[in-house]
Amino acid sequence: MKQGGVWLCYLLLIACDLGISLAANVSYDHRALVIDGKRRILISGSIHYPRSTPEMWPDLIQKAKDGGLDVIETYVFWNLHEPVQNQYDFQGRKDLVKFVKMVAAAGLYVHLRIGPYVCAEWNYGGFPLWLHFVPGIEFRTDNQPFKTEMQRFTSKIVQLMKQEQLFASQGGPIILSQIENEYGNIDSAYGPAGKLYINWAASMATAQNTGVPWVMCQQADAPDPIINTCNGFYCDQFTPNSNQKPKMWTENWTGWFLSFGGRVPYRPVEDIAFAVARFFQQGGCFQNYYMYQGGTNFGHTSGGPFIATSYDYDAPIDEYGIVRQPKWGHLKDLHSSVKLCEDALAAADPTFTSLGPNLEAHMYRAGPEKCAAFLANVGTQSDQTVTFNGNSYHLPAWSVSILPDCKNVAFNSAKINSQITRFEMTQIESAFKSEVSSVSSVPLQLTWSWIPEPVGISKSDKFERDGLLEQVNTTADLSDYLWYSLSIGIMGNESFLVNGTQAVLHIGSLGHALHAFVNGKLVGSGTGNSENAKVTLETSVVLKPGNNVIDLLSVTVGLQNYGAFFDKKGAGVTGPVTFMGIQNHTIDLSKKQWTYQVGLKGEELGLNGNSDMSDTQWSSSDIPINQPLIWYKANFDTPDGDDPIALDLGGLGKGEAWVNGQSIGRYWPSYSSPQDGCSSSCNYRGAYNSNKCLKNCGMPSQRLYHVPRSWMTQKGNTLVLFEEVGGDPAKIFFVKKTLGSLCAQVSESHPSPLDAWESDARREQRLVPELRLECPSANQVISSIKFASFGTPKGTCGNFSHGWCSSQTALDLVSKVCTGLRSCKVGVSSKTFGDPCKGVVKSLAVEVLCSV
Ligand code: GAL
Repeated sequence: MKQGGVWLCYLLLIACDLGISLAANVSYDHRALVIDGKRRILISGSIHYPRSTPEMWPDLIQKAKDGGLDVIETYVFWNLHEPVQNQYDFQGRKDLVKFVKMVAAAGLYVHLRIGPYVCAEWNYGGFPLWLHFVPGIEFRTDNQPFKTEMQRFTSKIVQLMKQEQLFASQGGPIILSQIENEYGNIDSAYGPAGKLYINWAASMATAQNTGVPWVMCQQADAPDPIINTCNGFYCDQFTPNSNQKPKMWTENWTGWFLSFGGRVPYRPVEDIAFAVARFFQQGGCFQNYYMYQGGTNFGHTSGGPFIATSYDYDAPIDEYGIVRQPKWGHLKDLHSSVKLCEDALAAADPTFTSLGPNLEAHMYRAGPEKCAAFLANVGTQSDQTVTFNGNSYHLPAWSVSILPDCKNVAFNSAKINSQITRFEMTQIESAFKSEVSSVSSVPLQLTWSWIPEPVGISKSDKFERDGLLEQVNTTADLSDYLWYSLSIGIMGNESFLVNGTQAVLHIGSLGHALHAFVNGKLVGSGTGNSENAKVTLETSVVLKPGNNVIDLLSVTVGLQNYGAFFDKKGAGVTGPVTFMGIQNHTIDLSKKQWTYQVGLKGEELGLNGNSDMSDTQWSSSDIPINQPLIWYKANFDTPDGDDPIALDLGGLGKGEAWVNGQSIGRYWPSYSSPQDGCSSSCNYRGAYNSNKCLKNCGMPSQRLYHVPRSWMTQKGNTLVLFEEVGGDPAKIFFVKKTLGSLCAQVSESHPSPLDAWESDARREQRLVPELRLECPSANQVISSIKFASFGTPKGTCGNFSHGWCSSQTALDLVSKVCTGLRSCKVGVSSKTFGDPCKGVVKSLAVEVLCSV
């Protein structure tokens, strides 16, 4: 036996020496995924590689690991990798292999969701536009041209992963793959062909022989051996379609996505923790946060219509890669306590006991030794005290307590021990006060030059057609922009014109945004919204005798990514276009011969990429302000330090921005969210939905635009803007995101720290809750204690104040323990602070400053 062990070690050493990794066997049973014979309880998180930069990946992955994740999930984005049929691209942010290898290097697993339909608020759901033009194609149904292309791309990705030995069966990190995405939500629209398609997709995937299981999410009829999984804000009620399959949750939405024109959604961490704990309480074995880090929709990657450039998602790691506290920390505590239960959880199904109305206990046992229990109060109103196994437990409303030994509480989803980061404002409007971290602004000392984009037709590849063309079919999404131009002769003094010159120009459009020019002047703009993309524009115009030119600039803002037949949702000016005069006299222009231009002159000239040719044409005098269709350019030096950088484009209207030729995305700060529907706080108790907790009402939906540091050099960077409607470039700021002070508030009644669980010697100590603080950067220390109170402190981080009961010693004690250190822990107990009010449950609230 002993000898065998030695031999195994020896073989392992040789394997590692030769760079050979050992293959893992991944299978599943009713209870869990089984990796090398062991059932695993796994925590996963979504990080989509192209929504950040390769330079950011290692840090994001490390923060995911530190947060207690076992698995990183990513979709594979077909339209990034095959923008032109048969021409593949896996460079830079598209380097999928590099990303998967980085996850492996951190010791984490990968769930690769190949799709290739991915939804994901991604342009066209991830499908390349050329796919739309394949003769006879119908997407996502039993259609041979579609199936051929889907199979080709799926095989391409699987082969790439196999070549690089990336499946667990080959010694790599990929333990799971997904085919299709939530087809079950919409399959009825495809009739019987939908069922044939999903069966085909299942066998096509299985035939790839990856050696690891496949999943289909939201697909109740997923054929064996594909595991059907759940997506949603809660999945505790879900059961897979066979008792041979484990209960898996592939998308637990940690917040929600942002739309231009929309309010900013957020989801309280107490509710997320409740949902996750409920899932494991009721037999779940794998749960994935969608998103764990959302990132940024750079370039034209955002779907839509109207998906914003920021894909922050209120995720545990923010758009810039900063951990969002207390979200990240509270979930980390949750994960540690779930892990303490892993052996018991994996062993068998739980036994359920009702502890009263809305009160549930589930107990898991592994032999006589191991026992884990989950106690839930699913009521939304009142806290309860329950008796379980002869002990008494306090359960706040809408909360779950986790007892890794069936006795002591390691975690309660409603009691946050984690630190909170406090924002701090410098020179920035209140719109950003709701940000978790501070935002300080640095005025940009820029010298601008500019060049006008011609109104109407200016390119030689213009063409003419009778009638109005649908936009996506016309542009093939090569540009957001399509010009519709018409010249119409007016005699002068036409009887239908008001005062002989005026009429109402009426334009019907499928959206997404529209700017109308008459004789070179902007006469009106219109836009749809995320619920209804259609635009109807009516504006009074003055016509002149002779030729009048009508130029309509129709703009897409991300192509539809969701729904049955999403690919058929058109865009652009599809009519009618009319002149309306007196007595409802109407002239219909819709069927006339229009001249078309796909894209802008500036795009053709490469103004956004700062090509040499363009340099000659820029003018630096009389910088136009608040005028439509202007290209602006300026040089800048990178702000010092290593804090993440964003551009505050609050002074602009709508357009796109490029830094050193890389698109940081579409910007649209002039599109504000509705005035109503927000609340300053949100009750986490009760079922969450994407409209429940909203902020930023009446403000630009997105004003800050992430500029990855790796896209800039120290000096002489170029910023280019294309402004559609009018803005003032002098009002642009750089902002850097820096953490202000840190806070934490922990009650005597909170669960005690998890790191004490392993050691029996600390059994005594583990009954004492701990307040923990850590400065976010390794080079920072706690420089001063702004506030400390043990008793009944009031307020929240940033405005704590003493309550009626407060120990005199708190500030001194915390200062002695914490000042000068990067991190510190303080026991929250009257033993440490003395008891300022006997018989009252006390808490310790602290706010500190961190500096270098
Ligand atoms: C799901 C979909 C994801 C994403 C999410 C919302 O339905 O599978 O790709 O779109 O909704 O963020």
